[in-house]
Amino acid sequence: MNIKSSIRDYSVEFVETSEFMDSLIRQPQHIFIIDGTVWDLYKSSTFEKIRVNQAVIQPISEDLKNLESVSKLYDHLITLQAKRNITLIVLGGGILQDICGYVASTLYRGVKWIFVPTTLLAQADSCIGGKTSLNYRNYKNLIGTFFPPSGIIIYPEFLLTLSELDYYSGLGEVVKLHIMGGKDKTEEIRSQFPLLKKKDIPSLKRAIAESLLIKKGYIEEDEFDSGRRNMLNYGHCFGHAIETISNFEIPHGQAVVVGMILANLVSRSRGVLSHEINDYIYKELLKQSLLISKKQLEFNPDDLIQAMKKDKKRTGADLALIMMDQKFNFIRVNDLTEQEVQKAISEFRNATP
Ligand SMILES: NC(=O)c1ccc[n+]([C@@H]2O[C@H](COP(=O)([O-])OP(=O)(O)OC[C@H]3O[C@@H](n4cnc5c(N)ncnc54)[C@H](O)[C@@H]3O)[C@@H](O)[C@H]2O)c1
Ligand SMILES: [Zn+2]
Repeated sequence: MNIKSSIRDYSVEFVETSEFMDSLIRQPQHIFIIDGTVWDLYKSSTFEKIRVNQAVIQPISEDLKNLESVSKLYDHLITLQAKRNITLIVLGGGILQDICGYVASTLYRGVKWIFVPTTLLAQADSCIGGKTSLNYRNYKNLIGTFFPPSGIIIYPEFLLTLSELDYYSGLGEVVKLHIMGGKDKTEEIRSQFPLLKKKDIPSLKRAIAESLLIKKGYIEEDEFDSGRRNMLNYGHCFGHAIETISNFEIPHGQAVVVGMILANLVSRSRGVLSHEINDYIYKELLKQSLLISKKQLEFNPDDLIQAMKKDKKRTGADLALIMMDQKFNFIRVNDLTEQEVQKAISEFRNATP
């Protein structure tokens, strides 16, 4: 798959065996930056040929997405003699992607980087689109650049070691993209769900490729996120706020699932989405994608509203929301009221057994 970008076109390649590591190791002037957990899991198998003194092994947490970690990474790379001709080879999930993409875009005004996503969320969603993001104070993803890697390699086998929670976080984004792909794609992912729950590799490969294809349609049309690409924020207006008030204990994709449930309840109340379609999507897909417990969702609705008010994409006085309609079209409204939020939360709480 090729992605068009005004910065540079780039490719996504699916691989079935770990032989891709050989060609990465042959890259001239490279430094690996590897998620610490992934390194521990694969250092004596897939990564056995990586020379550890030419690698940065990075422990991962959401706290890492800040300018201080970026400085530390610059220091580490300078110690490893990184020059302008360096290629950074990044193996990890969305967090490492966000930091390393930012570093790659700023070090020497931009160095080459290759991304090998190791989480479902990163393989099926974040790896394309070129966004790099850092959190700033309490604001999530406030700082960032557009800087796609020159190549992306997808090895679905990495997903077999992912925790259930991180796996289901990725499934949330896969489901979101399929809903955004329309009614047929939604039905397709519903029918694949039993296999996906079992991490069946051929179904995963199909679901990842399909998700990327749907996302590609949005990002190529509006690379810098000034219009249509904004619709990809479906589930994220509530989702980002849920993630924040849970102190990132609820992972991104799981927060997005709850965000889609709430957004659909608002759409249904406004009469743009029928009871039938809302029920079908909730019961057959969103509820099935939720791994977090009801207890984890016992937040105070006022805290959620406060967090939504901090959303960087909000422009008007009221809250913004991406909503779906009856024909699986997506629209952005800027007049979501606090009462509507309260109502959607209480409907959700009553609906979840
Ligand atoms: N840049 C973008 O376009 C974009 C889009 C969506 C999300 N994001 C960001 O991505 C982040 C979430 O990314 P994520 O869900 O990939 O999580 P992540 O990077 O936090 O990884 C989740 C956990 O899985 C571990 N892990 C990674 N690969 C593994 C593997 N193969 N086996 C076992 N464990 C593994 C990591 O060490 C970590 O503990 C958020 O910060 C979000 O804001 C960015
Ligand atoms: Zn997301």
